[in-house]
Amino acid sequence: MRLKSVSKEFGGRAVLNGLDLEVPRGTNFVIMGHSGTGKSVTLKIMCGLLAPDAGEAWIDGVRIDGAASRDLRRTRERLGFVFQGAALIAWLSARDNVALPLRERGVAEPEVRRIVDERLREVGLADIGDKVPTEISGGMRKRVGFARATILRPALVLYDEPTTGLDPVTTRTIDDLIIDARDRLGATGVIVSHDIASALRVGDHIGMLHEGRLDIVLTPDEFVASSHPVVRSFLDAAPAAAGRRSP
Ligand SMILES: Nc1ncnc2c1ncn2[C@@H]1O[C@H](COP(=O)(O)OP(=O)(O)OP(=O)(O)O)[C@@H](O)[C@H]1O
Ligand SMILES: [Mg+2]
Repeated sequence: MRLKSVSKEFGGRAVLNGLDLEVPRGTNFVIMGHSGTGKSVTLKIMCGLLAPDAGEAWIDGVRIDGAASRDLRRTRERLGFVFQGAALIAWLSARDNVALPLRERGVAEPEVRRIVDERLREVGLADIGDKVPTEISGGMRKRVGFARATILRPALVLYDEPTTGLDPVTTRTIDDLIIDARDRLGATGVIVSHDIASALRVGDHIGMLHEGRLDIVLTPDEFVASSHPVVRSFLDAAPAAAGRRSP
């Protein structure tokens, strides 16, 4: 995934301002930054949901900003998006939510059932396939959203605050799924997170979105040792996080 000199403004106010980013294949990149700095906007530009005012977005050598719709569609099929609120369809069971991308692609029904049940098992939700979103917990909904976003084995997965509002144990489960997507599915991941402990666990690199750019890019080790004021403002607000890093 590559962004080149991306700029975006809303109502005359610049949100992204010449942002450059390169995420190597098969690695996880965490975007941190204060509220309203443009993290969600960045993810939307990465998947073609939002067009930049200037600059370019590339996935696997295919330019996706303003690309012809057929190319965009093909590239989007190789991309999963885990939305902040899970964004499940309320009247469909967990199983049918996860099955959506497969059915859209025309996969035969018995095959759909087999793949979906296997995936639900992998995310620890084998028993709740028949339940609708209101009948399961927030952490379960996030895992259903994750299962749906990765059901087509995408090459790139974008996660918008996948653990916000979850307890530490559930957070850990989601972190493990994000790591698993990288290690077992070989997916490249871009994760927006406010949770420093999660960022250190799942990220190969951590970038601070600041003044419309991602100029501060650090490994987890560099991040906890950094004296950069923008990084410090995050670490000092959650001093326990640095010590909570796990292997
Ligand atoms: N479609 C839109 N129309 C107008 N303004 C928008 C739109 N999308 C985002 N913005 C503005 O762009 C800025 C960045 O929004 P964004 O959602 O990317 O923030 P964020 O970094 O994800 O914040 P948070 O951590 O609160 O989710 C905000 O000021 C927001 O109001
Ligand atoms: Mg956001």
